[in-house]
Amino acid sequence: MDNGFDSPKPTPRITLSSELQNITSTTDPSITLSSQDLLGPKELGDERKRFWNMLALLIPMTGYQSPEHRTVQVLDIACGKCREGFVLSTYFGGNRFGNPSPNVLVSGIDINPDDINTANENNSSYDIDRKTRVPMFNYQFINGDATNLDQYPQLPQTADVFVIRHQQISSNEVTWTTIFQQAIDRLGENGIGIITSFSDVEHDMLIGKLEQLHCEVVMNKPNPHAEPTETQGVSVDRHIAIVKKGSLASGILI
Ligand SMILES: C[S@@+](CC[C@H](N)C(=O)[O-])C[C@H]1O[C@@H](n2cnc3c(N)ncnc32)[C@H](O)[C@@H]1O
Repeated sequence: MDNGFDSPKPTPRITLSSELQNITSTTDPSITLSSQDLLGPKELGDERKRFWNMLALLIPMTGYQSPEHRTVQVLDIACGKCREGFVLSTYFGGNRFGNPSPNVLVSGIDINPDDINTANENNSSYDIDRKTRVPMFNYQFINGDATNLDQYPQLPQTADVFVIRHQQISSNEVTWTTIFQQAIDRLGENGIGIITSFSDVEHDMLIGKLEQLHCEVVMNKPNPHAEPTETQGVSVDRHIAIVKKGSLASGILI
């Protein structure tokens, strides 16, 4: 059956994100949602589905396996609003779509405090009794500078997965090169780093830079699940590169 997913795992199903389920299942009359209110969550849901499909299609090709008997550490660098947090928790926890895992810790860092506030909100759950959103134990978001991760002892020293979604090397090459190297330095022996770009030019710049850093670029692909934007040549997660810790020389590309 074609359910719209490329999945290597138990058949996932399309569900409302868990926070939306909580909100819509309440009978509290003070909480009413108009179709306009639902537009944001629907767009977020669609974006999450595409991000899931990208991971489900491409990550198995890298041979990556999440560790089974300890917390999986996912480091989301320059995470912005971290719209992908639930998907990262779900996918790398080996769960079905829509079911974030308590066995995954997603740690996000971004220099923009407003984005970090939104990241906290995007990755929280709704407490019906307290009528407010509450943080979840398996996500943490830090307002900080990713060019020097050592400043933030809360971040894992070793990451199983790092994500840099929509890197922006064209805005400041020195800053972003430092961010890439900091991320690579945190990768564990069997870890992978996922980096996506909005545009062809930005991605070419990324690949050129990665080839000079201490990592192995194991995948470099256009993303079949990228979402076009109104700007020609710009898509959400247009290209993806996957790196492993390694030497200067890149290996065979998938
Ligand atoms: C194109 S946005 C991508 C945000 C998010 N990953 C996404 O896909 O929506 C680039 C992000 O890099 C963040 N950023 C830029 N310089 C940074 C730094 N030195 N440390 C941490 N974050 C930084 C910005 O605040 C912004 O959120």
